Amino acid sequence: MESLNFLLPQSEIPTHWYNVTADLPTPPPPPLGADGKPATPEQMNAIFPMAILEQEMSSERWIPIPQEVREIYRLWRPSPLVRAARLEAMLGTPAKIYYKYEGVSPAGSHKPNTAVPQVYYNRQAGIRRITTETGAGQWGCALALAGQMFGVETRVYMVKVSYDQKPYRRSMMRTWGAEVFASPSTLTQSGRDALVRNPNHPGSLGLAISEAVEEAASRADTNYALGSVLNHVVLHQTIIGQEAKKQFEMAGDWPDVVIAPCGGGSSFGGMAFPFYADNAAGGRNGKTVRLVAVEPTSCPSLTQGKYAYDFGDSSGFTPMMKMFTLGHDFTPPSIHAGGLRYHGASQLVSQLYHEGLIEVVAVPQLATFEAGVMFARAEGVVPAPEACHAIRVTIDEALRCKQTGEPRTLFFNLTGHGHFDMAAYDRYFAGELKDFEYFEYPREAIEESLRHLPNFA
Ligand SMILES: Cc1ncc(COP(=O)(O)O)c(C=O)c1O
Repeated sequence: MESLNFLLPQSEIPTHWYNVTADLPTPPPPPLGADGKPATPEQMNAIFPMAILEQEMSSERWIPIPQEVREIYRLWRPSPLVRAARLEAMLGTPAKIYYKYEGVSPAGSHKPNTAVPQVYYNRQAGIRRITTETGAGQWGCALALAGQMFGVETRVYMVKVSYDQKPYRRSMMRTWGAEVFASPSTLTQSGRDALVRNPNHPGSLGLAISEAVEEAASRADTNYALGSVLNHVVLHQTIIGQEAKKQFEMAGDWPDVVIAPCGGGSSFGGMAFPFYADNAAGGRNGKTVRLVAVEPTSCPSLTQGKYAYDFGDSSGFTPMMKMFTLGHDFTPPSIHAGGLRYHGASQLVSQLYHEGLIEVVAVPQLATFEAGVMFARAEGVVPAPEACHAIRVTIDEALRCKQTGEPRTLFFNLTGHGHFDMAAYDRYFAGELKDFEYFEYPREAIEESLRHLPNFA
């Protein structure tokens, strides 16, 4: 029987994170403070520990993973690489489809890969309390879990629409001892201002970040942790791509196309950057790999945004980062892939896209659920709505292979399971979900919010 599951022993858990900054064609533009000058680690030390800021700004190619972090990674890593042979058969494609299954973590997604080191470094710096935002709740769950492991109190501002849509992720965070509030909340000035502007505000990741940062900046005992976007978060996720490369060697295969969903960009960067390292060195045996990030048409930061300096949160508390952005006060439509409702994208992913080194595709919500249901019926795993974005593009590529007869190897990141997203599936089956296309509501809202970009090139 042909193997479908490629499992590495725990001795193969990576020992280092891979920093793509070392292989970029040009140095990344620095984050800027309110005065337009490069932000210093000292300015950001109010909410992040120094060890994390050093990683954020590092240009070292390899950064060692602390042993305590690797010991915790043993709870779910290495994650499996799986050949989706039943999906291939269902599609009747000559393409080979593989996925890396990150849903095996206790929190159900790739997010603990960075939550564990982030809480570890905070604990090392003597921090006892951390605030954060969460969209669909995957990141909040991951941080709550890591907080529990290191004895650090965790407070989560959960985007209101997801707080209502995904009640069991709230319960999970509380099980791991975290406090959870719907954002906008009345606990912070940013939340109260948003509620004055719109008492029915659905919330957004940018706004929840403002609430969490505002609280962390106002308390000496509290730091802030971000679940995506920043360089150190993407760095921690590179264990995904590193493991995958070893697993493809085991399988005697290699991807032609690497596909991942893109909200802030950490699951995409984490999987794609180790393959980009080969591309930057001229390819593996002279062959480069296509790297494809997938975003929703309703929040198309990369495909419809502007490459400009903007704030990471809606109130403008964070340093400005050069990234593709829809404008920091853009409130995306209330789609169910809550983890993809972010106005910007990782600076590193943005720079690679700007320089033409990666591809980006935007897909509408209904098509992603259609793909997720096909996948679940073929392979068994019910995917998180965010992951369904990558599945949609993988299926489309596989169907193109069927037309051309090309036996390409496709590889996607199954970033999480959807066990707490079943209400979204129910709404899809009931025909209640809708698509927001480029030129409907988001286009006007994007143009309006791009008018409020800070004025730096
Ligand atoms: C399951 C899942 N996949 C993907 C994402 C997208 O985030 P990122 O782009 O940081 O990987 C999220 C974010 O919450 C998520 O929960």
